[in-house]
Amino acid sequence: MAFVTVVLNQKGGIGKSTITVNLAATIAEVLGGLDGEAAPVAAVSIDPQGSTVWWAERVGDELPFVFVDAYDDTEGIKNLREATAVQHVLVDTPGWMDPAARKKGAGDPLGTGPVADSIRAALDNANHVIVPIEPEPLGWMPTKSTIEQILKPRGIPYTVVISNWDPRDGKSDLDETKDFVRRNGWPLARTVIRHYKLHTRAAAEGQVVTRYPKSRVAQECLQDFTNLALELQLRFVQTKAGA
Ligand SMILES: Nc1ncnc2c1ncn2[C@@H]1O[C@H](COP(=O)(O)OP(=O)(O)OP(=O)(O)O)[C@@H](O)[C@H]1O
Ligand SMILES: [Mg+2]
Repeated sequence: MAFVTVVLNQKGGIGKSTITVNLAATIAEVLGGLDGEAAPVAAVSIDPQGSTVWWAERVGDELPFVFVDAYDDTEGIKNLREATAVQHVLVDTPGWMDPAARKKGAGDPLGTGPVADSIRAALDNANHVIVPIEPEPLGWMPTKSTIEQILKPRGIPYTVVISNWDPRDGKSDLDETKDFVRRNGWPLARTVIRHYKLHTRAAAEGQVVTRYPKSRVAQECLQDFTNLALELQLRFVQTKAGA
């Protein structure tokens, strides 16, 4: 059985694909593959826009994990956890409109249609969900409905991860975002994924964080993802142990 992590936030453009690909690369680099085999890690895209598909294609043979484009394979998504060839599956999901938020009480907040069905199927298989949030107030409400309306009713463990924070912007937005998350009582990762131009350019350059050309900045980029992988793993083990 694979451990399935779904990266979810209904808001678009807040780092879901960046986190999925780079976390998969980081985990793959640590776990590696024995005797030249592929690392036991897969990234699965259920985003019809396919930005990670394009990214994976640009990386080509250098991609350190298995990549699966599953946006129209609802049956496959329903069986994610049954994957035997890999130990870790990370799922990149699309952002979506929230009909219920516009019209109180109107139907399932995930909506209807093939995209909603894929997300539902992925969540049915999720061991853990990463909810990226950017340090700016516009993303707060979509994050709230993602957690309160989608994740909590399903009882899926989740961690909020602050993403794309530019240290040059100072700490006030960062601190306000942390306060917002804590006020809501949501589990927040201590690790913050910082904003770096290297990340923005990585898809076009056909790179993943573990393979950026060596530099001090590249090391900082990798540090964030290594810390995130370690933190999530340690917290999860702790939760399982009932600590
Ligand atoms: N930590 C980061 N540093 C620099 N750029 C980033 C970072 N995280 C995301 N970006 C950039 O922000 C944009 C949106 O990120 P990304 O595509 O990962 O978001 P998404 O949530 O997957 O979006 P969508 O909902 O459209 O799928 C991209 O151009 C990406 O390169
Ligand atoms: Mg995306």
